[in-house]
Amino acid sequence: MARTVIILAAGEGKRMKSQLPKVLHPLLGRSLVGHVLAAAEPLSAERTAVVVGHKAEQVTEHLAEIAPQARPVLQAEQLGTGHAVRVALDALEDVTGTVLVVNADVPLLRTATLTALIERHEEDAAAATVLTAVMAEPGNLGRIVRDAEGGLAAIVEARDADAEQLAIREINAGVYAFEADALRDALGKLTTHNAQGEEYLTDVFGLLLAAGRRLAVHTAPAVEETLGCNDRAELARLGALLRDRINDGHMRAGVTIVDPASTWIEPAVTIEPDAVIEPNTQLKGATSVAAGAVVGPEVTLVDTVVGERAEVVKAHAVLAEIGPQAKVGPYAYLRPGTTLGVKSKVGTFVEVKNSSLGEGTKVPHLSYVGDATVGDFTNIGAANVVANYNWRSKSRTIIGSHVNTGSDSVLVAPVTLGDGSSTAAGSVVDADVPPGALAVARERQVNKEGWIFKRRPDSAAAQAAQAALDAAGTADEDPADQR
Ligand code: UD1
Ligand code: CA
Repeated sequence: MARTVIILAAGEGKRMKSQLPKVLHPLLGRSLVGHVLAAAEPLSAERTAVVVGHKAEQVTEHLAEIAPQARPVLQAEQLGTGHAVRVALDALEDVTGTVLVVNADVPLLRTATLTALIERHEEDAAAATVLTAVMAEPGNLGRIVRDAEGGLAAIVEARDADAEQLAIREINAGVYAFEADALRDALGKLTTHNAQGEEYLTDVFGLLLAAGRRLAVHTAPAVEETLGCNDRAELARLGALLRDRINDGHMRAGVTIVDPASTWIEPAVTIEPDAVIEPNTQLKGATSVAAGAVVGPEVTLVDTVVGERAEVVKAHAVLAEIGPQAKVGPYAYLRPGTTLGVKSKVGTFVEVKNSSLGEGTKVPHLSYVGDATVGDFTNIGAANVVANYNWRSKSRTIIGSHVNTGSDSVLVAPVTLGDGSSTAAGSVVDADVPPGALAVARERQVNKEGWIFKRRPDSAAAQAAQAALDAAGTADEDPADQR
């Protein structure tokens, strides 16, 4: 049967108190509407429409980015959920078969639940089927009114409900399947005779029943799937539920997550079995973690690849590739374009940008490596800086294999250090170093002996120096004469 998906996203979401339209608020790396689109995607509906209205331009732009196959339909004035669906059906034309309608603010909805709803609807040959859940505190959600036989009699909005109806705990989740022709007929008969003066989509059920059509109810397998998002407190609660759901999935698949409550893993992240995720860690975007890797504590990875048995501790990485058995951190920052070879190391207070380190190459301490290509088994000394920027442009630095740079070397790009070369500590290297050479690019040391006795004769430093010289037996009769 032909299937069409309509997502209702035109409302403002006043209670979010935000400049950002509600449906664009992010939850674990996806917008609210993005979650609903992702849940509906595998249904392979012929057409997907998203009804936009409040800040339509901004929402439409977002849709073009995340779901170019979805068609935005403008509901210029938000006259109610029924009106929104009517606008969508008019825009799509010739819709037949099953129409799935979903509020855009139910991000925990699962594909399996949508599939089950549609199957129930089609097997029952119903004109309309609603997804429901039973809630302890149904608040201002629409109530499911059943007849004496337990069949669906009506959906009543909380604001239009009497006391008896308000006591009903079964609610309308805002997710429905309709038979297209029946839906179109009923939408044409909607009125605005209700507390909010809106065309209620929910009134379609009463109208269809009165016309002798069959209605069906599908109960969600878990209440959480039906939770809507109306304010920031609910947004945070939904985030925590989604986090737990994602973490459970990884743990069941063989990943150790030491502290699930402080571990935030976005939906598109992949993790192989026997990886270990330590506390306070966020894995975002298209990040992947291979088997046996240990990530965390306190790590944020964005679109980053972690190889087998790599170890990443207290680090922040964006668009980086960390090779198998490489070690990163603590306190490391890997910026876009960083590639770390097998068993390489980026240590403490080290920043790497747009650079590749070969197998076994180490940058252990206090360094910046930018726009550099580094070979295998090279050791970058402590506090090295690759000066890649001359205030006008950036240049590349090539460092060969088995190179050893001395502490506090500055490599001024563009410059090449040949295989097996070295630099002396404190060198400013701005000319190429041939293979095997030692570059010494600093002034030779001059000791001005006895300087302290002349300049600070009575200081503690002078006394300490005198004592040391006396003890070594090298003191002159009159040390103050020394220059
Ligand atoms: C709606 C249901 C209610 C259900 C609840 C579940 C109706 C009349 N009521 O109530 O029974 O329990 O959802 O969350 O449908 N929207 C439009 N255009 C409009 C109005 C709304 O696109 O003119 C969109 C909103 O952006 C939102 C969705 O429709 O995504 C639901 O609208 P909302 O105002 O939140 O409906 P509720 O009052 O929550
Ligand atoms: Ca709502």
